[in-house]
Amino acid sequence: MAKKSENTGGKLVTVSVVGLSGTEKEKGQLGVGKSCFCNRFVRTHADDYNVDHISVLSQSDFSGRVVNNDHFLYWGNIQKELDDQEWRFELVEQTEFVDDACFQPFKVGKTEPYVKRCVATKLQSAEKLMYVCKNQLGIEKEYEQRLIPDGKLSVDGFLCIYDVSMVPGRTWEKQNEFVAIILQNILKLKKPVVLVTSKNDEACEQGVREAERLVQRKEFKGSIPIVETSSHDNVNVDQAFFLLAQMVDKSKARIKVANYAEALRVR
Ligand code: GTP
Ligand code: MG
Repeated sequence: MAKKSENTGGKLVTVSVVGLSGTEKEKGQLGVGKSCFCNRFVRTHADDYNVDHISVLSQSDFSGRVVNNDHFLYWGNIQKELDDQEWRFELVEQTEFVDDACFQPFKVGKTEPYVKRCVATKLQSAEKLMYVCKNQLGIEKEYEQRLIPDGKLSVDGFLCIYDVSMVPGRTWEKQNEFVAIILQNILKLKKPVVLVTSKNDEACEQGVREAERLVQRKEFKGSIPIVETSSHDNVNVDQAFFLLAQMVDKSKARIKVANYAEALRVR
C-alpha cells in the first residue's frame, strides 16, 4: 500500500523507471527515452524540458555527487492531484553510465547485469544529489541542491519503458528480450509494473504491435497494462504514474487511460 507521507498531504509512491540501457551495442544509436520521460513528469514547466541527458560520462562526473558512483539518477519528488486524491512521487531512473574513455559501462561493486540490478527496491546512496540537467555536472552549486531523503529510497513500483520508434542499430527482438527479462524480474518481486511505450509521436506500427504482443505473453498472465506516451508532446506521461500509483495502492478506482491518438486529440 502507498504510505501516508509525513510532511505533506498525499500518499507517497516511490517509482523506478527502467528499460533497455547500456552501450550503443545494447541500445542502438539512441536511448529509449527514460530520462525525457522522467524530465517531463517532475519538471512541469515547459522551459525545464530538455531532450539531451547524461549517458556517456567522464570518470570525474561519474564520481561527482549527482551520479555518485551509481547507475541510477535521483530525479526528486513532486506532488500531483488526480480526482481530489493527492499523490507524492519520488522518482529514480535506472540506467547504465558509460565511460567516455573506453566506452564501456563504469564498473561498481559486484557488477550485476542491468536487467537484474535495475529491479532493486532498496536503493542507498549517501549524500546523492538530485539530477537537474546535463549542464549541472561539475557546477552543482549553481543549481538547486536536493538530497535523496536520508540517503535511501524504497521502490514501490516500476514504469518500464518500451520504445516504439525505429532506432538504427537496435532490433525489436533485442528490445523484446531485454524488456521481457526485466518484466519477469519485477513480477518475481510481486511489485506492480506498467509497460510505458515511449516516442509514440514517432511510433512505428511494428513497435506498437511488438509491445502489445510482449505483455500478452503467457508468463505475464495479462497483469501488465500498457500506457502509450510521448514525452516530447507531453501525452499520457502523468497518466502512467497515476495508474501505477493506484496499482501500488491497490485502489479499486483505476484511471482510464486513452490510447495515444485519442489522448493527443483531447490534450
Ligand atoms: P539512457 O539513459 O542513456 O539509456 O537513455 P534514455 O533511455 O534515458 O533516453 P533519453 O531520454 O536520453 O532519450 C534518448 C533519445 O530519444 C533523445 O534523443 C530524445 O530526444 C529521444 N526521445 C525521448 N523521448 C522522446 C519522445 O517522446 N519522442 C521522440 N520523438 N523522441 C524522444
Ligand atoms: Mg537516461
